[in-house]
Amino acid sequence: MKTLVAPSILSADFADLAGEIKKIELAGADWVHIDVMDGNFVPNLTFGAPVVKKIRETTKMFFDCHLMVEHPETYLEDFKDAGADLICVHAEATKHLHKVIQTIHGMGLKAGVALNPATSLTAVENILADVDLVLIMSVNPGFGGQKFIESSVDKIVELKGMLEHCSSKAVIEVDGGINGENVKLVKNAGASVIVAGSYVYGAKDIKKAIDSLK
Ligand code: DX5
Ligand code: ZN
Repeated sequence: MKTLVAPSILSADFADLAGEIKKIELAGADWVHIDVMDGNFVPNLTFGAPVVKKIRETTKMFFDCHLMVEHPETYLEDFKDAGADLICVHAEATKHLHKVIQTIHGMGLKAGVALNPATSLTAVENILADVDLVLIMSVNPGFGGQKFIESSVDKIVELKGMLEHCSSKAVIEVDGGINGENVKLVKNAGASVIVAGSYVYGAKDIKKAIDSLK
């Protein structure tokens, strides 16, 4: 399966998001990974649908919206209207995950589910056949620039087996602490969508950094 690279704009210059997105687009990125944080589900606050709506006007790139928010069902309509292409919610953040996935699909968008490092894959085993993407957090959510959690590799291997077992079409996205070295481990384990924030936006040569993840 082709590897897609989704740089996270959490590590971009928030004073020039349009320019920062143009940079990764020209450098060959496939998706824009948009980290939405509510200061509740995670101890950090970034931006909401109004910002997504504004950057939507500047690019045609695929918007991969990672909602690190409590009760994501509250915001689905807003992010759809803002131009999200995929909405990924945390299994830990809603009581009605199946309904949330159904609602996202009902809006004509791709639906993903994310798991924090300590959350077992059993939390999503009954939804795997319904989602388009499963996001494995390889850091504790809330901040960029953290160290990759090594046990994520085994979790990806296990998830890959579960997806095959239920003939799910979902892809595996990995998010957090990814660089040109550990990306080989996560791709061999089964991840095909690679999120990287600080590794890409901190690079002298952004294209070289993105190419090293493909
Ligand atoms: C963390 C976010 C990640 C983060 C990745 O809560 O979900 O997407 O921005 O940043 P790096 O690649 O720097 O760990
Ligand atoms: Zn993210």
